[in-house]
Amino acid sequence: MNVLVVGAGGREHALCWKLNDSAKVDRVLAAPGNGGTAREATNVAVKDDDIKGLIALAKAEKVGLVVVGPEAPLVLGLADALAAEGIPCFGPSAYAAQLEGSKAFAKNVMRAAGVPTADFAVFDDPEAARAYIRQKGAPLVVKADGLAAGKGVVVAKTVDEALAAIDDMMVAQSFGAAGARVVVEEALAGEEASFLAFCDGENFALLPSAQDHKAVGEGDTGPNTGGMGAYSPAPVLPQEKYAETAELCIRPILKHLAAAGHPFKGVLYAGLMFTARGPMVLEYNVRFGDPECQPLLMRLDADLVEIMFACAEGRLTPDLVRVRPETAICVVLAAPGYPGSYPKGMAITGLDEADALPGVKVFQAGTKVEGGKTVTSGGRVLGVTALGATLSEAKARAYEAVAKVGFDGCYFRRDIGDKGIARSK
Ligand code: AMP
Ligand code: GLY
Repeated sequence: MNVLVVGAGGREHALCWKLNDSAKVDRVLAAPGNGGTAREATNVAVKDDDIKGLIALAKAEKVGLVVVGPEAPLVLGLADALAAEGIPCFGPSAYAAQLEGSKAFAKNVMRAAGVPTADFAVFDDPEAARAYIRQKGAPLVVKADGLAAGKGVVVAKTVDEALAAIDDMMVAQSFGAAGARVVVEEALAGEEASFLAFCDGENFALLPSAQDHKAVGEGDTGPNTGGMGAYSPAPVLPQEKYAETAELCIRPILKHLAAAGHPFKGVLYAGLMFTARGPMVLEYNVRFGDPECQPLLMRLDADLVEIMFACAEGRLTPDLVRVRPETAICVVLAAPGYPGSYPKGMAITGLDEADALPGVKVFQAGTKVEGGKTVTSGGRVLGVTALGATLSEAKARAYEAVAKVGFDGCYFRRDIGDKGIARSK
C-alpha cells in the first residue's frame, strides 16, 4: 500500500520513519515534507492546506491511507474530503477537529462532558470581556478562539495584562479572525504533561505519558515556542494513573462526540495540568504533538499502519499499541532568533555521525535539501531523539548526539528532561 503523510515538521519525519517500518507499506509519500522526510519518503510539493491538491495526489498515487500530521488541514476538512472519495484517513473530521480549532468549542464540550477544566467564559464583544476581567481580577488566562500557531494564549498576572491581551486579540486583531472571539479563563498552577490516545470513534488505546518544554529558555523562561524538547514517559503522570486519567479526559470526549454524531478518529491529545485539585485539561489537540511524537514513536514497538487502519475502520484494540519500556527524549535544535525571526539556508553538519550513535535518531523539522546538501529552512530545525534504560541515560545519549550536529547560531535547551529526572529521584 502507498501511504501519504501530510505536513512538513519533525513530527512528520518521525511518522514517515515509523510508517516505513511496516511490512504493509510499499511507498511513503510526504506532502510537502522536508529534508528529513526526503530520506524516508518521496516528497511531493503540495502544501498541507491545499485540500484539492492533496485529494488529487492521493488519487493519482493510489494512496491507501492518508496520515495527517498538523491540525490546519483537519480543521479545513481534509478527513471529510477524503471520506467522500473513499480514501481511508488517519485524523478526525472538521467537526471533531473543532476541539483544537476553537477553544470555545473545546471548553463547551469539556463542560458538557464533565471533563475537569479551568472555569471560563466566552466573549465576542471586547467590552463584555473587559468587564468580566475587571470583575474576576488577576491572574487570568486570555485565549484567542481560533488557530494561532500556539501563540494565542496569554497568561496574565495583572488585570492590565489581561486587558491588553483583549485589545491585541479583539481590537488590533493580531491573530486575524482567530481572535474575534476569546476565552477568558481561571489561571491554574501545576506541572504539565501530554497524554495521547489513538481513537477509532468509540474505543481508544493509550500512548504513554509525555512532557513538552514550551518555553524557549532553560528553567521554562522566556516566550513560548512550538516546543523545545519532549520525553516519555513523564513521571508526573505514571503508568498506574493512565487508566483513571483516561476516564477523566479521553473517554468522556469520545462519548460526547459519538453521541453528537461525530465520532473522533485519530489521535486525541489532552494537554493536562496537575493542580492541587487534581488533573485538569488545558487544551485538546486533534493530532500528535510536535515534538512529543518523536519520543513516542521511538518507543512504539508495533506496526503503526495497522494501528492507524484500525482507527480509521473502527476496530481498534489496546493490544495493537505495544510500547518499549525504555525512556525516549527529544532535544530540539533551533535557529538563532527563533521564536522570533531567524535566518534560513544554513548548512547542517554532522547529521550522519549523530544518527550513527546507538539508540539515536535525528528527526528533521525545518530543513530542506539544496544542491545535495541539507540546509535549515525553519525555526525548529532538528529533533535529536534517543532511547535509554532511564531518563538520565536517554538524556546523556541525546546530548552526546546533539554535540555532533550543528549549523551557524544553532541553540538548544540543556535542561530537557530535568523535571522528570528530579521526580525519578
Ligand atoms: P494551550 O494552548 O491552551 O495549551 O495553552 C498554552 C500554554 O498556556 C499551556 O501549555 C500552559 O502553559 C498555559 N496555560 C493555558 N491555560 C492555562 C490556565 N488555565 N492556567 C495556567 N496556564 C495555562
Ligand atoms: N508540542 C505541543 C503541540 O504540538 O501542540
